[in-house]
Amino acid sequence: MVNKINTRCDLMLFGALGDLAQRKLFPALYQLERANLLAEGSRILAIARTEADTVAVRKQLFEKLEQHVKAEEFEASVVRKFLERVDYLRLDFNDPDGFGVLNEWRDDANNELIVYMATPPAMYGVIARNLRAASCCTEKTRVVVEKPIGHDLESSRVINDELGEVYNENQLFRIDHYLGKETVQNLIALRFANNLFASQWDQNHISHVEITVAESVGIEGRWGYFDKAGQIRDMIQNHLLQLLCLIAMDPPSDLSADSIRDEKVKVLKALRRVTPDMMESHVVRGQYTAGTSNGKPVPGYLEEEGANKGSDTETFVALKAEIENWRWSGVPFYIRTGKRLPEKLSQIIIHFKPAPHYIFDPDQKHLANNKLIIRLQPDEGMSLKILTKDQGLDKGMRLRQGPLELTFSETFDTDRIPDAYERLLWEVMKGNQYLFVRRDEVEHAWRWVDEVIRNWRDSGEPPKRYAAGTWGPVASIAMITRDGRSWYEDA
Ligand code: BG6
Repeated sequence: MVNKINTRCDLMLFGALGDLAQRKLFPALYQLERANLLAEGSRILAIARTEADTVAVRKQLFEKLEQHVKAEEFEASVVRKFLERVDYLRLDFNDPDGFGVLNEWRDDANNELIVYMATPPAMYGVIARNLRAASCCTEKTRVVVEKPIGHDLESSRVINDELGEVYNENQLFRIDHYLGKETVQNLIALRFANNLFASQWDQNHISHVEITVAESVGIEGRWGYFDKAGQIRDMIQNHLLQLLCLIAMDPPSDLSADSIRDEKVKVLKALRRVTPDMMESHVVRGQYTAGTSNGKPVPGYLEEEGANKGSDTETFVALKAEIENWRWSGVPFYIRTGKRLPEKLSQIIIHFKPAPHYIFDPDQKHLANNKLIIRLQPDEGMSLKILTKDQGLDKGMRLRQGPLELTFSETFDTDRIPDAYERLLWEVMKGNQYLFVRRDEVEHAWRWVDEVIRNWRDSGEPPKRYAAGTWGPVASIAMITRDGRSWYEDA
């Protein structure tokens, strides 16, 4: 049973009528209400540029919640109670004078002030400065910003500097929503609560690691944003590198934000630079063409609505990352992520090395390495593939690979797995930064990714095509096959 946050919060939500706020943030806040976790008197100021009033915005939010919350979780009376907390303010974010009314809205200065910037990152600086000019920030204000922070190291520094002029690092909550996923947090529990794994978690016992984050959707009307970012900025720089850090980091001395983040930074710093001569063997970049998704024909990336036909933005990336430290020397991390792949699936596979001396049927030697499969979504759980003897008189000592299976929804009596944003908003309200990204993490991740992007640009090579509904360009299969391995497929 989680405890309600006793402190009252005033949440100012900039960009409140945008897609993220409507699809993710309001539904998450509603779920906190439904779980009775919001303190009485906590309030939300929805702020956007659109001309509207509170009544109209509440009505619109009611409809959006109906659309984005599962029918069985939508309780009209709770929605109404929740919406009573919401006021609307029309504001031009560039107009310092307009910010004057924000303090008037706050009727109790003791309430915790949370500012959520669900806006393009280019607006973060100006919003922060205008809030300061309107005396609408204290040393305790918590500020939540969304990824991507910039589009490279340089631009991320500019944004972070602008935020840093107004707020201290301990006030900034940089979101990577993957860190709010229940199963992603479970990586910490799996690794550091189970000595069984702790003692096996290095190059002596692990041969390689795979991380796949696949999506079946395409660009979903986000062409304008996505085409400037591409899959490497949209997914690798943040979500995939965060997953890699959680798998690869050394044990933190405690669960405090900085202990965890210090260890993640060490991993990012140890990533082997991808130099131009490594590009062919270590990196594959793809773009989908027309194909099928869930049995239906779908257009290619260049045929999506609003597309620039000459774009060479990638919608798929496969990479072989190497970590240059004692723990991981010689253990490649194969990572891949893409849009319009056959299914929505995020999983991590830890491939253990085979036993040092093999005494069974030589024909079965290929089976002889254990695998730990961590399923992040869907069907959250873990499965450890181990070898046992096949049963029956006629089987001799034939081996059989089987799973030790843990499917969270079946094993534990959990009603529902909360969405990442529920967890993250709740942690912000509690002032807990451990699920948020520190400035140096963002910058080290950009430094590594920037080099790959620079190499692409310098090579002038277009992305390799793959048909929608397939697992990416053949080159991504060749990349891992060259090392005598293959992407894991559950038979
Ligand atoms: C977002 C990306 O950060 O993550 C999207 O901008 C992507 O392009 C999304 O679709 C995937 O998140 P999830 O939680 O659905 O795996």
